[in-house]
Amino acid sequence: MRTYVQGGWNDIIHLCNAAAGRLAGPPSVYCVELMSNNGELIEKAQEICRARQSRPDALIEILHDVQEALGHIPEAAMPAIAQELNLSNAEVYGVVSFYHDFRTAPASGPVVRLCRAESCQAMGCDQLATALERNVDWQGGAPEIRTVYCLGNCALSPAAMVGDELIGRADVRKIADAVAAVRQDRKEERHG
Ligand code: FES
Repeated sequence: MRTYVQGGWNDIIHLCNAAAGRLAGPPSVYCVELMSNNGELIEKAQEICRARQSRPDALIEILHDVQEALGHIPEAAMPAIAQELNLSNAEVYGVVSFYHDFRTAPASGPVVRLCRAESCQAMGCDQLATALERNVDWQGGAPEIRTVYCLGNCALSPAAMVGDELIGRADVRKIADAVAAVRQDRKEERHG
């Protein structure tokens, strides 16, 4: 189990003491890990908020920026975002949980880039995107699916990229197979 907290040493020590019965490792080690993770995440989230003048009405754009920068929206960053924008924690949590595009945990690679420019639109990329989100039982977790605008493969629309592989006339099966192949390659690399 990994839990993120925002606060000073007293808060973290309190959390570790309270959770000590459930932690696999010594609480003191876990405390240090919590501290370093949170510091970086919070700093990055604050930086992103300030780049948009900490405007509360820019919350959705800020959340997209955070996800782009960190790969997901960590729970530890949400109170920092709320504070920067002068919103309540509940408002930030509410928006994150409402929109399917936002993730609170890192996606399981590889990245799928799905073209949604004109030619691919005409060939059904929107339906393909929906099917990838809803109709695939991803073994090993759903990959991150990013929208791109033209992969230079318009003649074979709809087009997608999985890792470095360009896929023409893309459909759910081709994309799912490519994701599985990349994962298998990575697994073999890891095991030599
Ligand atoms: S419009 Fe999709 S590859 Fe060009």
